[in-house]
Amino acid sequence: VPIVVLGPGAVGRALIGQILAQRERHRSRLGVRLAVLAVADSRQAVLAAEGEIEDPQLVSLCEAKARGEPLPENGDVLGPDDWLEAVDELADVAPIIVDTSAADTTAVLLGARARDWRLVLANKVPLTGRYSAFAMLTRNGRGARWETTVASALPVIATLQTLLDVGDPVRRIEGTLSGTLGYILSRVDADIAASAAVAEADAMGYLEPDPRTDLSGLDAARKALILARMLGHPLELAALSPDGLYPAEWDELSVDDFRARLPEADAALAARSVAAREEGRVLRYRAVVEDGAVQVGLAALDPRSPLGRAGATDSVVVLTTEHYRANPLVISGRGGGPAVTAAGVLGDILSLVRDGG
Ligand SMILES: NC(=O)c1ccc[n+]([C@@H]2O[C@H](COP(=O)([O-])OP(=O)(O)OC[C@H]3O[C@@H](n4cnc5c(N)ncnc54)[C@H](OP(=O)(O)O)[C@@H]3O)[C@@H](O)[C@H]2O)c1
Repeated sequence: VPIVVLGPGAVGRALIGQILAQRERHRSRLGVRLAVLAVADSRQAVLAAEGEIEDPQLVSLCEAKARGEPLPENGDVLGPDDWLEAVDELADVAPIIVDTSAADTTAVLLGARARDWRLVLANKVPLTGRYSAFAMLTRNGRGARWETTVASALPVIATLQTLLDVGDPVRRIEGTLSGTLGYILSRVDADIAASAAVAEADAMGYLEPDPRTDLSGLDAARKALILARMLGHPLELAALSPDGLYPAEWDELSVDDFRARLPEADAALAARSVAAREEGRVLRYRAVVEDGAVQVGLAALDPRSPLGRAGATDSVVVLTTEHYRANPLVISGRGGGPAVTAAGVLGDILSLVRDGG
């Protein structure tokens, strides 16, 4: 099965490592070999000279990226159109393109879909641009999987697909979808200043280079939008207004100035956390999809509810449907980390392989 990997970052490298480590399992359980034909980062694509990229070359390519070096040079730097064409010429059958980047790769992915390639995404960005692109990329799951775009490898998308396929009407989806915000709020709940909690999250590698991606609620909003769009609501990201954990005008600041001002937001968040505790509640960052609308923001919740009792970096998704009405369906567990996410991506690839017979 030919594979193309976009984005050899933390998740992409973990994926390649797992593909190499599980070759014998894939052969014995499924009778397949995942053959990596190309790896592309933000600058260029490395293509197999012929056949597939050899395992030792994949290892050294990952080691180079882990050291912060560019992909090893491989002749000319190929642009997106050139390398899609070049990969098509290398492959006997249509490849699976795997997007573990965090960039707007919509054009490349649409090009791949136009060539009938199958698609696996960990990257939320192409699914949260224009609704028309979402529909063209996902095709209701025909030849596409995007499990790890919401709550990492937890089976939220697969479960939702099954509910949609069988026609069990989904009335409400409620979830804590940001491990980063979950961690920060758990520290604020322990009377740690939010800005100190952000610094801790940064030191543990949870934060994006610009912390506003998480702290604005944008990341959680993208995930909620994917769920809403799957339910058939043709919403656009601009229509969502997630609660940010800082004043909106700080979006104009440089990253350094933003970080410097962050302590000014500590008191407001601490006050909300204390007020929640005084009412016997816990503060969570929650997304709700209901009646065609999406709400993303802080909520004071019952500590015994599925969202209220979740661990700091866990994700929880509660699905209320016709069948699961009195006792909703709850999916919860670890909601991030490169290894678990890569395993989710690999599971998506193998799910497509099984579908292909
Ligand atoms: N980490 C997690 O726990 C987790 C969980 C769920 C989902 N995800 C999603 O998984 C994706 C990867 O996360 P990560 O933590 O691995 O990120 P990361 O370490 O920042 O890696 C991103 C990679 O994408 C590459 N890239 C950038 N622009 C590209 C483009 N136009 N075409 C191809 N590659 C491009 C970067 O290459 P350069 O080196 O050239 O910049 C880098 O190798 C993200 O979309 C993230 O939201 C992550």
